[in-house]
Amino acid sequence: MIEAKAASESAVSAPTKTDRLVDSAKHHLLQNYKQQPVVLVKGEGAYVWDAEGRRYLDLISGIATCALGHCHPAVVEAAKKQLETLWHVSNVFYTEPQIQLAERLTKAFGGTDSRAFFCNSGAEANEALIKLARRWQHEIAGNKERSEIITFEGSFHGRTLATVTATAQPKYQAGFEPLPKGFVYAPMGDLEAVKKLVGPQTAAILIEPIQGEGGVRPAPEGFLQGLRELCDEHGLLLLIDEVQTGIGRTGKPFAYQHHGIQPDAISLAKSLGNGLPIGAMICGDAVGKALPSGTHGSTFGGNPVAAAAAVATWDLATSPQMLASNTEKGALLHRLGNELKARKPGRVVECRGRGMLFGIEVDTGAADVVARCRQNGLLVNLAGERTVRFAPSYVTTEAQLTEGLTSFERSL
Ligand SMILES: Cc1ncc(COP(=O)(O)O)c(C=O)c1O
Repeated sequence: MIEAKAASESAVSAPTKTDRLVDSAKHHLLQNYKQQPVVLVKGEGAYVWDAEGRRYLDLISGIATCALGHCHPAVVEAAKKQLETLWHVSNVFYTEPQIQLAERLTKAFGGTDSRAFFCNSGAEANEALIKLARRWQHEIAGNKERSEIITFEGSFHGRTLATVTATAQPKYQAGFEPLPKGFVYAPMGDLEAVKKLVGPQTAAILIEPIQGEGGVRPAPEGFLQGLRELCDEHGLLLLIDEVQTGIGRTGKPFAYQHHGIQPDAISLAKSLGNGLPIGAMICGDAVGKALPSGTHGSTFGGNPVAAAAAVATWDLATSPQMLASNTEKGALLHRLGNELKARKPGRVVECRGRGMLFGIEVDTGAADVVARCRQNGLLVNLAGERTVRFAPSYVTTEAQLTEGLTSFERSL
């Protein structure tokens, strides 16, 4: 009897595989992320498993990154085939997957003779936008004094020094001063405020169609058209950050396409490689002439394996069927979210988003809600101060989304 008790006590206190790994992570990884205490070891479709064998419904998909879910067979096949064929040769040479991807992205971007530049992340894609805008103004339009870029309060554009400065949120910038010059901030949705910031020094306006990290906040109706007109009037470039919204997530290949405008250039990353690191900057040919040979580059940019995965991802993620399905599932998320709001008035403040990018703002304790969701087997994350973000993979079924919202309600 005593022996049995001792054995069960030691079983309770023996460190699990997760305990050991998390302990090691705490000693060896830079402590720059607020990581949840789970070690994920496997993924399939909309599910992931942790090191203890526990299954989670993943409605955040690597923060809007695994568009087709975990280990989608078509993407695995494309990446595997490329892995066995050619990994890397540098951008001194052409490779097939990069050309195939560029053909698809530029066709979807439209305009005449658009161009693609490949890199490895969202921040790097936005760096390309910033460099493009400045160099276009200085070298092509002949406006040497035009260097400043207008961005929006609550935005998020990345963590490099330039993109963190473009990110108009002091909490991301504090301690990294001196920040690079050339960025000014306007309140999101306030066209009059933007007009007041435009001057002889302005080069471009950079905006997310839906602020993702800022709390899933869509640009108000008509705002992007207003910015387009302002840019046309003053000779500025309109740059759209589609890193989180791109590749079909909102029901169109790119979210700006809901607004009936054509930007001068866009950035992509996240979903583009379904989780393999790849970013892109797409622009019209005339603007792209600002970055001729030798002015910009990236060793790994458009790596053949990531580009092959991206081609397979693009073909499925932006098919008419997938776009329609993302629109319908977005409507379902809004219906379920608003029903929940009606059941929990005050606790649920607002539901926002489009397609498979959805946020529920709660009155308080959003981080605790996210943690309880995880304990209840649901993965979501915090965006802004009080918004729980859902960015499911497009293969997530309506039944899984409904299950997720039920689990969220239990976690409130
Ligand atoms: C809209 C937007 N732009 C840029 C970035 C930065 O992307 P990355 O982390 O790949 O550099 C993010 C990342 O969350 C983002 O949401």
